Amino acid sequence: MRYFLWLSFSISLHFHSFLISEESMSLDQQPRTHLAFLPTPIQELSKLRTALKRPRILIKRDDQTGLALGGNKTRKLEYLFGDALQYDIDTILTAGAAQSNHCRQTAAAAARMGLRCELLLNGNTPHLFEGNVLLDKLLGAHLHWKDEEGTAASLDELAERARAAWRKPYVIPYGGSNVFGAMGYVNAMIELAEQQKLLTQPITHIVFASCSGATHVGMVVGAALTHFSGTILGISVDYDASQQANFEQGLVDLANATALKIGIAKRFIAEEFTVSYEYAKGYGVLGELEHDAVHRLAAQEGILLDPVYSGRAFGALLDMIAKGYFSEDDTVLFWHTGGTPALFSYAEKLAE
Ligand SMILES: Cc1ncc(COP(=O)(O)O)c(C=O)c1O
Repeated sequence: MRYFLWLSFSISLHFHSFLISEESMSLDQQPRTHLAFLPTPIQELSKLRTALKRPRILIKRDDQTGLALGGNKTRKLEYLFGDALQYDIDTILTAGAAQSNHCRQTAAAAARMGLRCELLLNGNTPHLFEGNVLLDKLLGAHLHWKDEEGTAASLDELAERARAAWRKPYVIPYGGSNVFGAMGYVNAMIELAEQQKLLTQPITHIVFASCSGATHVGMVVGAALTHFSGTILGISVDYDASQQANFEQGLVDLANATALKIGIAKRFIAEEFTVSYEYAKGYGVLGELEHDAVHRLAAQEGILLDPVYSGRAFGALLDMIAKGYFSEDDTVLFWHTGGTPALFSYAEKLAE
C-alpha cells in the first residue's frame, strides 16, 4: 500500500512539473465539471459536546457530496474531469487500494460523463465483491488487480495498453492528488468562508483525514485566499513520523504548483502544514481508536464514519479532546471526508 502511495506522490509531482510551466488562470476560470451537491451542510455535534464538555464541535458533511455515496474525491474530480474533458479522450484510468474511495468516485464520474473507466487496484480479485469494489463493478468500471497483473503493472502501462487498443486514455493520479485535485479544496474553503458568516463563533480548528495530500493542500491554499486564520490539522492515516520530511515537502510543492496555477502570488513553506502522525498505525488497520469513533458517532449523533479515514481522524479528535488539546472556547470543524462504503468490508470486526 505504502509503495502505491509514494508512487502517487512521485506521479503527482511529475504532473506538477509540467503544469508549472503553464499559464495561470484564476480558480473561476479553471475548467470544471459539476459533479457534487454543494455546499455540503455543516451540523453541530451538540450531544457529543454535552458529553465531552468542550470544545464546540461542528461537522462538515463531505460524505454527502452526492456522487455514488459521496466523499472528498468528488470535489477533486470536478476539476480533474474539467481538465480531462478539454482533450480528445474516451477512457479514464486511475488506481488505488482495493477499497479505494477515490476509484469508486472516479468510476461514477466517468459513468456520468459517458467515458470508459479502468481501475488498477491493489491485491487480487476478491472472493466477495463488497463495499467500494462492489460499487466499482456496478458503476461499470473495468478492474485490474495489481497482484495478478505483475509487479510492473502501473498506470503508465495501462495507458500504453489502452493506446494500443486505439483508446484515448487520460490518467488521474492516485488519490486524485495533483493541482486539479487540490483546486477542489481551494474551492471548498471559499464555500466554508461563506458558511462561516452564518456561524456565531469563528472556527478555530479544522480536523480531517489526510493521505495523498491534495485535500490538505487545497485547504491551506484556500485558507490563504480566504484569510482563514484557524489551524488546519491533517490527521495522517498512512504516513508516519519517519516519512514526515518527504511528505511535507510533497505538500509544499503541490501547494506552490496549485498557487501558481490559479494565480496566487503567495508561496508556501513546510511550517504552514500541521500534520499529526501519531495515529498512523498501519493503513486500514482497525484498532480500538477507529472502532470506538465509528460506534460513538453512529450511536450518539446518527452519523456514519469509515474505519480507514474519517473514523481514524475522528478517533484522533476525540483523543486530543481527552488530552486537553482544545480549550472550551474553541470551535472545531471536523471535515467528514466520506469513505462509508468501506464500512461493509469491516463488518465482522465492527460488529464485535
Ligand atoms: C474517505 C477519505 N478521506 C480522506 C482521504 C484523504 O484525502 P487525500 O488523499 O486528499 O489526503 C481519502 C483519500 O483517499 C479518503 O478516501
